[in-house]
Amino acid sequence: MSKSAIKDTMDALVKELNQHNYNYYVLATPTISDYEFDQKLETLAKLEKENPEFADPDSPTLKVGGEITKNFITVNHKWPMLSLGNTYNEQDLLDFDERIRKSIGDNFEYVCELKFDGLSISLTYEQHKLVRAVTRGDGKKGDDVTNNVKTIRSIPHQLKTMEAPEIFEIRGEILMHLAAFNRLNKEREELGEISYANPRNFASGTIKMQDSNEVAKRPLDCFLYAMNTDKTHFKTHWESLQILKTWGFHVSEHTILAPSITEVFAFIKYWELERFKLSYAIDGIVLKVNSYAQQQELGITAKSPRWAISYKYKAQEVETILEKVTYQVGRTGAVTPVANLKPVLLAGTTVKRATLHNANEIERLDLHLGDSVFVEKGGEIIPKIINVNLEKRKLGAVKVIYPVICPECDTQLLRKEGEVAFYCPNDEGCPPQIVGKIQHFIGRKAMNIDGLGDETIEAFYQKGLIRHISDLYTLKDKAEELKTIARFGERSIENMLKGIEFSKQMPFEKVLFGLGIRYVGETVAKKLAFAIKNIDRLMAASLEDLVAIDEIGQRIAESIQEYFNKPAHLLQIELLKAHNLQFEAKEIEITLQSEKLSGKTFVISGVFEKFSREELKELIESNGGKILSSISAKLSYLVAGDNMGPSKLEKAQKLNVPLISEDDLLEMLK
Ligand code: IVH
Repeated sequence: MSKSAIKDTMDALVKELNQHNYNYYVLATPTISDYEFDQKLETLAKLEKENPEFADPDSPTLKVGGEITKNFITVNHKWPMLSLGNTYNEQDLLDFDERIRKSIGDNFEYVCELKFDGLSISLTYEQHKLVRAVTRGDGKKGDDVTNNVKTIRSIPHQLKTMEAPEIFEIRGEILMHLAAFNRLNKEREELGEISYANPRNFASGTIKMQDSNEVAKRPLDCFLYAMNTDKTHFKTHWESLQILKTWGFHVSEHTILAPSITEVFAFIKYWELERFKLSYAIDGIVLKVNSYAQQQELGITAKSPRWAISYKYKAQEVETILEKVTYQVGRTGAVTPVANLKPVLLAGTTVKRATLHNANEIERLDLHLGDSVFVEKGGEIIPKIINVNLEKRKLGAVKVIYPVICPECDTQLLRKEGEVAFYCPNDEGCPPQIVGKIQHFIGRKAMNIDGLGDETIEAFYQKGLIRHISDLYTLKDKAEELKTIARFGERSIENMLKGIEFSKQMPFEKVLFGLGIRYVGETVAKKLAFAIKNIDRLMAASLEDLVAIDEIGQRIAESIQEYFNKPAHLLQIELLKAHNLQFEAKEIEITLQSEKLSGKTFVISGVFEKFSREELKELIESNGGKILSSISAKLSYLVAGDNMGPSKLEKAQKLNVPLISEDDLLEMLK
């Protein structure tokens, strides 16, 4: 192949695979099999290795759902990770029960479990310590994602028992709770990033991320449901689950022992609707023969055990009418289409709206007004249109066309290369963007202004009291006008003004995050503030300066430059400076909180779950302790995290320096 043909092939693969990733993670409607995807990805990875000069920084070999992923080491599973046979009706289950009866007779019990909708994981414990976490992969081998899995708080690093076998494997399902999913997805949308279709995709995208610190910020949970050892440790699956709980594993409480298939049916019926009250998604139930000896007797087929099966609930789906499509303009100007539906009862709630994501989704569905559409909903997840019932389409129905101008301010919409969302560039004049930006600024994670809420901002805007962030700081001169706002008494005004005044002391990184620069989330704002120190240097920074900072990529760097190229933004910053907001990073101030650690010395090493190293340092120093840089016999404690260098560990052990965890440290401070 010629060089240019190779480049064309690579470019085409990048485009195609990025689309497949999008279909999978965002729309949850993949159009190729996982196997085909992996084959194509492997071809691309090979070409990139041989022709690094053509490698695209946006390559799907590096990213999933727009996030940087890592190439993990492949590990063989000691016990293959089998899948389960699926059933969708009672007859299939009766047949399953019959087959078992024929093989082992009538004397057996079932364990009924929930079928968690996440990604399966294999955890290996050696000498009671978690040593490896591996994804299912193709069932024979998977990715070693140990460091990322170690950030999941419900997975013990060290067991609370001495009874467990020296080496064993435990399996379970990693998932994200619905509340966290909705909250994080909303934050992503606000930052102009794509949102995930469901918690499963969010969880699996997270586990594949490169940076364990990022993973740690996304609350994941893990339910454990199976154990493997060389020696038989337990007689029954039920017994193993009870004991695993006492060893510190998160085992579901919604598991029952069922003497016969009748109780299994009752369990299925109970969870059919009850599942929508759970804080996480399940897609069915799993049925397992309880006795390990009987499991052995029944054996396995090529892919799945003969002693277990799953019953999958049908997705809750209803047909209703698409009445109209409206468009919401977000804080960053992204214009999101929303389907307005004829209200219909689904999974216990009335559904009136469904998300349409973006212009591509409208095209994919080929939506027409008045269409009869199938809507799906699971738990608290936002409902979604699956497809259109074409047979019911009325003659002459009008096709839904995504607008070319902003529905709020009539500005022509734009779409950035490589992005799916159209956005309104009129950030200084488009009402929902103005209001959204001020609401973001006062928010809990930004300036956290007490006495001010989203509705008040909306009301102030309607009254013409504020148009820009800086106007918040002139409210104190508008006392008379403030009193005209309904339900806003003197006390509330006083509180609010105090809150606004107090916000002038919020640190630079909060102000920077509060400005609402596209792609500058909380972490990025912190990194920038820490590395660049003040706003003047940030405004003067070149693209090269910015990308040289840890975790700042081209996309973020360009967005920062674009922001500071707008005169209106520069004016805002000048005004905010004049109001004495913090535009300079302060060295961390150490306030002495106690003397509990006085006279003690500490060395911090490794990666921690709850705190960054900086935070631990601050914690120790503010309680009278002293940080040393190297280990000596005089050292009081080594605070040890994950991935600590082996030489440090060896030295500490040789010198008899006690090793403590971050929890031990907290305990000392109690
Ligand atoms: S047992 C050989 N129990 O479902 C049996 N699996 O379709 C192995 N799953 O890969 C699995 N909840 O990811 C089992 N309570 C549960 C489960 C469960 C969810 C997933 C698991 C597995 C898939 C099989």
